[in-house]
Parts: sequence; C-alpha cells; structure tokens
Amino acid sequence: MNHLVTMKDLSNENIMQLIKQAASFKHTEQHQKEYPHFVSNLFFEDSTRTKVSFEVAERKLGMHVIPFDASTSSVNKGETLLDTVKTLEAIGVEVVVIRSSEENYYEELLANTKMKIINAGDGSGQHPSQSLLDLFTIYEEFGTFKELSVVIAGDIAHSRVARSNAQALSKLGANVQYVAPPEWSGEFDCLPNWDSVLSTADVVMLLRVQHERHQPDQSFGTDTYHDLYGLTVERYNELKDTAIIMHPAPVNRGVEIASELVESDKSRIFKQMENGVYMRMAMLEFILGGDQE
Ligand code: CP
Repeated sequence: MNHLVTMKDLSNENIMQLIKQAASFKHTEQHQKEYPHFVSNLFFEDSTRTKVSFEVAERKLGMHVIPFDASTSSVNKGETLLDTVKTLEAIGVEVVVIRSSEENYYEELLANTKMKIINAGDGSGQHPSQSLLDLFTIYEEFGTFKELSVVIAGDIAHSRVARSNAQALSKLGANVQYVAPPEWSGEFDCLPNWDSVLSTADVVMLLRVQHERHQPDQSFGTDTYHDLYGLTVERYNELKDTAIIMHPAPVNRGVEIASELVESDKSRIFKQMENGVYMRMAMLEFILGGDQE
C-alpha cells in the first residue's frame, strides 16, 4: 500500500499485521532492515507527540528525516499543499507525513502525486496513527477486541480520534458506546451521561475538548464539563478492577479527567505515547515494505 490516510484503508488483517509488527519492534532491540528513504513531516497544525513520535520512528528505521517548518515554508507565500508535495517529490523526498486542519486534504494529493503519504490528522476527519497505537495498547492489555466494552467520551463531534477508533473498533468486534453532550455528539448515537456504562466498561477512552474547533456558543465552563462528562475520582472508583483509561493527549487536566487520575493505576495515557513510536515504525514499514521485496 502506497499510503495510509484513513482507517477505512485497512482490513482487520492489516490492523492485526500492524499490531504484531509494532509489538515485534517494541520487544526487539535490533531491527533486521534499514530504510534509507528521505522522509519529511509536514505539520500545519500544532503537535507534540505525533510529530516527535514519527521522527523518532523514522530515525529508528534508518530513514533520512528532512526538516520542514510550516511556519517558514513557501506555503506562507501562497504555495498550495499539492505544489508543496510535488516540489518535495521532485527534490527526492519519498514519504511525507502530513497534519492539516483541512478534512480529506489527502484526496487531491493521492490523485495527483505518487508520493507515499501518511495522514497525521486531517481536521475532524481521521487520525489513523493515533487509532492504531490505541488499538495496539488495547490489544496488549486484553489480547482481543471481540466483545470488549469500549466507552468513548467527550467532544466526539470534533474528534478525528473518535471517528477513526469508532470505525476500527466496531469492525474488530468491540462493543462501542459513546458519552457526549448533545451539542458534541455529531453523527454518533450518544448517551447523555455515564450512568449505564461505568460499571461495565473495559476501556474508557476520553477525548480532548477541542476548543480550537468550536463556535463561540459551543463552549462549556471547565467545572461544568468536568462534573457532567469528565472522569471524576467518584466515577473512577466505580470502574471495574480490570478497566483501563485512555486519552490521546494533550490532556486538559481537571477537564476531561481529574488531574490525579492521569497517572493512576488504570491509566494507560503514557503507555499510549510509548507505543506510538513502535506503531509508527510499523506504519512506515507497511508503506515502504514493497520497496524492500
Ligand atoms: N494525540 C495527538 O495527536 O497529540 P499531538 O497533537 O500532540 O500530536
């Protein structure tokens, strides 16, 4: 496969292959293959973990990472994303990892270039690398997706993480439920509160409140949101002993989750970040694999 831009691109077999490869990278210090390809990370939206994690993954695979700073690039002189990618292709860059606030930005690129593309987030559309590292983390914990009770809670309408995970988890056989304020339910059939799901959830996946994507009339007061939809200490205490908590981060402490729960026993938030490097190595190998045959 030449690109990985949406979870819809991946079959269940592809997902399990990526999880197994990520696990193999995690548990093997020496990698059998090196990938001396030129790669560039084009981030037009802010990022800490996805950008750094991709760069670490690329370096671990022996790739040549070509710096690209969106704030000083010729995009600021009016160059389009398509012309930017075609320029990098002409210069010899073979893979681009792109984050953009524009949903489905990749369609024009796929139609007009041969560049290998990984989507690192497109507006409220998709975030496949986050979804895959989440799936890896869940599989590490439970060894299966079938019949798992997964609750995705929060700002679902604006969340590319929710959209990617909802598709993938349902396809893999998990029972996915949603908790969200009516204003942030989007196309999902959401429960208005936690009452019926707290004591049965295996995985509680919290979402960041995406203030940057809200209209002025869509905001909640921080305390109100935390009381109604956040993971409070009281709600945490009702979870099953075996339940885990996830959050793609960055976390708004005291909003989506009580600050003292971020590193609690059930939290896998920093484990997700650790697993992200290995999953991104697996994704890069997945789209480069054909070149090595
Ligand atoms: N989870 C995630 O995408 O984080 P960043 O925005 O820091 O990359």
